[in-house]
Amino acid sequence: MPKDPDNALQAGPRHVAIIMDGNGRWAQARGRPRLFGHHAGARRVREVVEACPRLGIKYLTIFAFSTENWKRTQVEVAGLMSLFRRYIVKETNTLKNNGIRVRFIGDRVRLDAKLTELMDTLERETQDNDLVHLTVALNYGGRDEVARATKRLARDVAEGVLRPEDVDEETLPKYLDTRVLPDPDLVIRTSGEARISNFLLWQSAYSEYEFIDTLWPDFTAAELERLCLNYGSRERRFGAVPA
Ligand code: IPE
Ligand code: IPE
Ligand code: MG
Repeated sequence: MPKDPDNALQAGPRHVAIIMDGNGRWAQARGRPRLFGHHAGARRVREVVEACPRLGIKYLTIFAFSTENWKRTQVEVAGLMSLFRRYIVKETNTLKNNGIRVRFIGDRVRLDAKLTELMDTLERETQDNDLVHLTVALNYGGRDEVARATKRLARDVAEGVLRPEDVDEETLPKYLDTRVLPDPDLVIRTSGEARISNFLLWQSAYSEYEFIDTLWPDFTAAELERLCLNYGSRERRFGAVPA
């Protein structure tokens, strides 16, 4: 661990992505329904976002709902969708006044019109902010994103806008939902599961990972700071030999 914490934070991650997992187990441990855990989880987001400027995090991306989460019960899915709507309404002013620019990634087609309207408004209301770029992955799946990107890319080829021989690894990211974002430096997953569950597959090819046991509703800014300091002491090699 580096000795000077301020220096260590300067070497901290610029883009942190979080798989916010464990809400269900947190609720279960308290004998409460899963949605109770989702509400507690949503309340953790504000503290984490607000800690970002101090920790040198410019981009924060959070996984809120995956393309696979539709497999859950209708009650849970409907409860989550209602939570997202309420969360956006409740947090819009705070996000706007605190310099947070919000973006959503994922496929909006399956989301209801009321929710996508709120998402559009929040993006528009915060589009001039630049302190922290918060990206919410909602109905997001890495494979689905690559498939949708490939569809758009294929259309450009068919229309003669793009030549197949010009397609390289710089091309596809321009078609991904994340096209304006840098790749994540650090991906955190809470709740003890060591898998990525279809999150940012292309973008996290060289990310550092932290799999921690904390359940998402118990996650704090202090724990984020610890993980950022830990990141500062790691050596990223990107395939090269150590300097
Ligand atoms: C993460 O918590 C939130 C979503 C996937 C929407 P879970 O609901 O997956 O909680 P566990 O994994 O069942 O504890
Ligand atoms: C990943 O968590 C998705 C989100 C955190 C939104 P899951 O709980 O859905 O992942 P699995 O099912 O354990 O892989
Ligand atoms: Mg889970």
